[in-house]
Amino acid sequence: MIDLADVVVGLAWGDEAKGKITSHLSSKRFISGKPYYDFVIRWAGGNNAGHTVYVNGDKFKTHLVPSGIFYGVQSVIGPNCVLNIDSFNQELDYLKESGFDTSLIKVAPNCHIVKDEHIQFDRDNLAVKLGTTSRGIAPCYSDKAARVGMLAKDALESEVIWDGNLYGNILCEGAQGVWLDINHGNYPYVTSSETLPYAACSIGFPPQKINDVYGAAKIYDTRSGEDPRFPSSLLDDPVLSRLAEIGSEYGVTTGRKRKVNWLDLNMLVKSINIAGATHIIISKCDIMKELDIYKLFYNDERISFNSMSDMQNFITNTIKSSCSLVKQIRFSYSPEGL
Ligand code: IMP
Ligand code: MG
Repeated sequence: MIDLADVVVGLAWGDEAKGKITSHLSSKRFISGKPYYDFVIRWAGGNNAGHTVYVNGDKFKTHLVPSGIFYGVQSVIGPNCVLNIDSFNQELDYLKESGFDTSLIKVAPNCHIVKDEHIQFDRDNLAVKLGTTSRGIAPCYSDKAARVGMLAKDALESEVIWDGNLYGNILCEGAQGVWLDINHGNYPYVTSSETLPYAACSIGFPPQKINDVYGAAKIYDTRSGEDPRFPSSLLDDPVLSRLAEIGSEYGVTTGRKRKVNWLDLNMLVKSINIAGATHIIISKCDIMKELDIYKLFYNDERISFNSMSDMQNFITNTIKSSCSLVKQIRFSYSPEGL
């Protein structure tokens, strides 16, 4: 039985710097020097995700392997994930060449394998209509649900297969975000898995073990992929385009330009409450400060502020009065400054 599970979840449409938060948390040590977490485990999605993390000043990009690998923590791809074997092997090589201990990386036996035909179907049928990442995610989860899928235990070498032995402290690393969850997002403009903490229990522990839930948010909203909530006219707005440029809003996985809009604070309050977030980390404040224009949407109004601190105070007060589980709210000014 495990001691506790902390969870990192995206509170928007993905790209909220979950990787940086997970990486920061994974580096946590007891006074003895022993890593605080025994495992860092992904619970959903596949290589549609993309994490950019900085370790000792060096930049690393991953799609599948949990960020615990950068700090010598056992890193597991859970049973509710889907795995592209080529992408996985490339990532193993890349991490090994970069000096990380890849023997710590394991895959749950029941994780489903993304096949070439899944990728082909996604490219031909879903990529344009839904703006998917074309990684075969939806067809792979379809096969899983239809019970005709291929499992990791039948496709990978036995030494990489996880023995399922869970103990100690676990950090559950989310992928995508609350509004891409298949049950809670704007269906069909969602991904094919469960991105909320309720699904972290698919790793194999009871919900009572969930302790802190770190919610990653951004001071403005971004969306890669199709979504009527984010019309393409947003790309023509000169101020928002400038924000996108300063913030390098391009997908880590697809390289696509993300649509940017002012923060919808009602949606953020809702996602904090559905996710049960206890700690909120709001990033990209430095980007908005550089733009020096401060706006957000709240209760159908667009509100402007004179300064970053005025806007942050408004966000803090709104969250504190609407989200009873929240213990701490932090704003980050730079990607490395968490
Ligand atoms: P799929 O997960 O590739 O099927 O894509 C479904 C939707 O989720 C599309 O709108 C994608 O752009 C979006 N999506 C999937 N993964 C990510 C992610 O890691 N960050 C941001 N958006 C994502
Ligand atoms: Mg990402």
